[in-house]
Amino acid sequence: MTSAPFAPTVETNPAARTDAEREAILASPGFGNHFTDHMFLAEWTPEQGWHDARVVPYGPLQLDPATAVLHYAQEIFEGLKAYAWADGSVRVFRAEENAARLQRSAHRLALPELPQDWFLGSVDALVAADRAWVPEGGETSLYLRPFMFASEAFLGVRPSQHVTYCVIASPAGAYFPGGVKPVSIWLSTQYSRAGAGGTGAAKCGGNYAASLLPQQEAAQHGCQQVAFLDSTEQRWIEELGGMNLYFVQSDGSIVTPELSGSILEGITRESILTIARDLGHDVVERRVSIDEWREGTADGTITEVFACGTAAVVTPVGVLKWDGGEAVAGDGEAGKITMDVRSALVDLQYGRAEDRHGWMRRIPG
Ligand code: PLP
Ligand code: COI
Repeated sequence: MTSAPFAPTVETNPAARTDAEREAILASPGFGNHFTDHMFLAEWTPEQGWHDARVVPYGPLQLDPATAVLHYAQEIFEGLKAYAWADGSVRVFRAEENAARLQRSAHRLALPELPQDWFLGSVDALVAADRAWVPEGGETSLYLRPFMFASEAFLGVRPSQHVTYCVIASPAGAYFPGGVKPVSIWLSTQYSRAGAGGTGAAKCGGNYAASLLPQQEAAQHGCQQVAFLDSTEQRWIEELGGMNLYFVQSDGSIVTPELSGSILEGITRESILTIARDLGHDVVERRVSIDEWREGTADGTITEVFACGTAAVVTPVGVLKWDGGEAVAGDGEAGKITMDVRSALVDLQYGRAEDRHGWMRRIPG
């Protein structure tokens, strides 16, 4: 069934926060703590395709206890940011890539694909309704969280025949409370995030549920994030719980683990392939073993390690720890190339550098 033309209705929130309440939140938003006054919703059924696009007051969803997502986790999501530019416009970074990845995730989770114009339209409609919530100044942004879930109430194991798509928005400061400081990483040897043929390349909630226990283990060892290896050989570096990884070599080249089918195809990762080349670095996608990480940081072949993702932007990695040892990259501080790549990315996102690749979509209005 083809979907209806995208034409959302807008219901303004009669209980919207006052200017003073909103400004108090925007003064120190943190990450993922506060939500704007509106949300976007749409529904899908086999008969009607995508329909009922609407911007409504932000609030709880009412779910039947038998709703499929609560039992079988048929759910996917995205994450992207809107930035306030000095010229008064609001821009989103590579939203077309998020639209495409949501479609790939939908395919893997047997959910219906959302047309690109519906994805972009939903982002435009919500950001326009909550324009006042896009923070200004510093490294702040409005984090957008589109997600889609099985909303049919039934207990049989089959793809849901009613699917709901929703977008919520949350003003964001730094993901790591300490700002740009090197993070410590725990190497998970007991648990994998994803296996061959599994859902690792999809952005589905279940992957994150599986990463929580190893993430707890990381915290118990004093680390902020967990690194996962491939599940077959326990040898090849995949990614962190919520970020991709890069390794800077002593010759100035930059290496990132190749897409194995079980790694999330990060949009920041993909953008850095281009940005680092623009900065004159050779960038290589290939397998990187855990021995290479350990030995390379010890003998100086690897001079810097950094992680990247929408929420965390570019974050230096200071130390990798495992049961019985640790590997420190460089002097454990943020490396120069890491910070150069980071600056090039954020300058582009905040409109301080030319958008050479046409990555910053202007929100109409
Ligand atoms: N890997 C995982 C597991 C993630 O959750 C994320 C965050 O979205 C990333 C990588 C980075 O992806 P992106 O740059 O598209 O945000
Ligand atoms: C993101 O970077 O957008 C993520 O989804 C990472 C994390 C918040 C799950």
